[in-house]
Amino acid sequence: MRVVVIGAGGLLGTAFRRVAGELPDVEALFPGRSELDVTDPLSVERYLGATAPDGVVNAAALLPADLCETHPRTAYEIHALGARWVSRACERLGAVSVYISTDFVFDGTSRDGYAPDSPTRPTLTYGITKRAGELETCLGASRHLVLRTAGLFGPPPPGTGVRPCFVDRILRKADSGEPVQVVDSVVMSPTYTVDLARMTFALLLDGAASGVHHAVGQGAASWYEVAATAVRLAGRNVPVTPQREQSHVAATRPARTPLTGALPGRARAHQRPWQEALAEYLREYWPAPPRAAGSAGPRGPGE
Ligand SMILES: NC(=O)c1ccc[n+]([C@@H]2O[C@H](COP(=O)([O-])OP(=O)(O)OC[C@H]3O[C@@H](n4cnc5c(N)ncnc54)[C@H](OP(=O)(O)O)[C@@H]3O)[C@@H](O)[C@H]2O)c1
Repeated sequence: MRVVVIGAGGLLGTAFRRVAGELPDVEALFPGRSELDVTDPLSVERYLGATAPDGVVNAAALLPADLCETHPRTAYEIHALGARWVSRACERLGAVSVYISTDFVFDGTSRDGYAPDSPTRPTLTYGITKRAGELETCLGASRHLVLRTAGLFGPPPPGTGVRPCFVDRILRKADSGEPVQVVDSVVMSPTYTVDLARMTFALLLDGAASGVHHAVGQGAASWYEVAATAVRLAGRNVPVTPQREQSHVAATRPARTPLTGALPGRARAHQRPWQEALAEYLREYWPAPPRAAGSAGPRGPGE
């Protein structure tokens, strides 16, 4: 199966590169923005027409969400119009259009979280334009998968100037001796990018029926809980303190967006408790610091 991954230079795209290398049945292509710009219908048509993929994963985005508030037109062009051009090209080629979406299509006021068929009500430009992209995908391509995800952490994209994930930013802070204070009033479904890439490929290889799915790790947590767990599992002996207000961001995030609903087929096997996925990520990318001679040392991963 040939799969084109758009947005491959980003956080999620990096995981797609890694996972594609593990799958003998997948030939994955990773165009840069100069080869395929989702806001340019001609470049979308040209690249997809020349490569004739069976599936296209559209992970292009304008992030962080605050940027969408200051650049709403660009956000609309990338998230909504981009989804339109990609899905129309997929329809012509008979390919599956996979749109990576977000928990921010919900307003975060539900106590019980959100199922794939829960009514959407985005509050930020990021969520509004991503919801528009979901609709463009569903209407534009008869074979489509809308995969809503959340709270991504995973290996950093190579190169300089790329924003590391939340977990990496927290651990860098801990290692630099800065106080680690994290908001505890925003709860979501933390998701390991490598797991999400595996879920996506499994859905494509299974030939999953068109629809909207929640592709996240199991469980829910506040950013504070994620940070405190990461610091503990990585063996950093640094206090993490909760902060109530979202004073550090320009765009106030929806407060509670746990996503529910199990994926079909083999993709389900890659939905695991977020703590288990985080522990695996940290073992691989953030080994515990060496113990000082004669000291009990900080608690290492898995303890
Ligand atoms: N990060 C999260 O916690 C999170 C949570 C929920 C959902 N999501 C969704 O997950 C997906 C991946 O997010 P991410 O965290 O990997 O984002 P990211 O690291 O910011 O990567 C976004 C990628 O999109 C590319 N891109 C931007 N505009 C483009 C355009 N016009 N044409 C083609 N490519 C373009 C960027 O290319 P350049 O490298 O050229 O800039 C970059 O490689 C997105 O759909 C996002 O909405 C993310």
